[in-house]
Amino acid sequence: MPILTKPSNCCLEGFRGNSGTLKSPVQRCSRLDNRHSSIHTGNECGKRKPCLLLTRAYMSGQRMVFARKKGCMLMTTPPGENRLVTDPELLTELVRLDGQGEMLTRSMGGVLPELSRAERNGIQDVLDLACGPGEWVLQLVFENPKMHVVGVDISHRIINYANAKAQEEQSPATFQILDVLSHPLPFADGSFDLVNMRLGFSFLLPGQWPSLLAECLRLLRPGGLIRLCETERSLSNNAVFEKYMTLWTDTFFRDHRTFSPDGLHYGLLPMVKLLLEQAGFMQLRHVPYMIDVSANSPTHQTFFADMLALLQDGLPFLRRMARGPSELEELEAIYDQLRGLVNQEDFCAYWPLMTFLGSKPKMP
Ligand SMILES: C[S@@+](CC[C@H](N)C(=O)[O-])C[C@H]1O[C@@H](n2cnc3c(N)ncnc32)[C@H](O)[C@@H]1O
Repeated sequence: MPILTKPSNCCLEGFRGNSGTLKSPVQRCSRLDNRHSSIHTGNECGKRKPCLLLTRAYMSGQRMVFARKKGCMLMTTPPGENRLVTDPELLTELVRLDGQGEMLTRSMGGVLPELSRAERNGIQDVLDLACGPGEWVLQLVFENPKMHVVGVDISHRIINYANAKAQEEQSPATFQILDVLSHPLPFADGSFDLVNMRLGFSFLLPGQWPSLLAECLRLLRPGGLIRLCETERSLSNNAVFEKYMTLWTDTFFRDHRTFSPDGLHYGLLPMVKLLLEQAGFMQLRHVPYMIDVSANSPTHQTFFADMLALLQDGLPFLRRMARGPSELEELEAIYDQLRGLVNQEDFCAYWPLMTFLGSKPKMP
């Protein structure tokens, strides 16, 4: 049941209050542009007082996620809306993701390090959502030639590259261009034993998780597994690096991309099990990872190459979100500052990741 608090003087059009129903799937403040609704404060929309205090609420039907905020209204993302931080068709993005994927798989101990041999043996059909350049898929098929594995991604360039790599390696893996936010996904119910997704946080908005997870449940056979690998900001002993991390968490927060209550982190990791449970998954478990990215660690160079490339490719988004000239100036300076940290001997940092696993119930 939805937990909505009736707002007083809310500027929202169409809000009905305690009954928990919303007249339309997308609620907007009249002062917001039509492209996307958003969290904002009472002041921003011209009301003298904040008009709504919502706790996080999950609406069973429309499955919308609200965050707690003193302000007019927050949320809501149309399930299919794509608001990307980087252009997935950029060549630099492809190169970045290829290096990042390889580093992640190696650092985490393989493609399915959390599964027992028996669990792996039970898997035949696999779907990798937002697969990137296909490194995980190709490695999985290489190690398990009997598996049928399909990777899907929104980027034409990335999928063309992944298919070319599969051909070159004579791999039976297949790759398709697909927007995973466009539901229903073009696969029959119960087509897969495993649905995998790594770093969904990079493009999924909070309100888009429930419907995507519901699709994953539909696509899995009874007893099938979902595997989500997600992340949080890295921890370091360096002020420049922390400033860079804060740049992303804070900007993501202001763009309503996080589950964080204050923008100090992304806030997805504490939410994943709840999201999986609410989607109907059972036997939930998690495995944490801390990848050492300090100077002299084997991942250091790749990690920094990834960050510098992300900063370049994300600049249009970061510039758009900057609040005034001083933030723009800081943005222009941070690339060189960050580059200065590469191989700095006393640089110490960890990149946290967590894998979450859940099963589709065997009985409906
Ligand atoms: C951070 S990368 C992760 C790639 C891969 N999962 C990995 O871990 O190596 C995010 C990927 O999501 C893809 N993507 C973004 N929006 C998407 C969408 N709506 N549907 C499918 N893929 C999407 C991007 O093209 C990119 O390849």
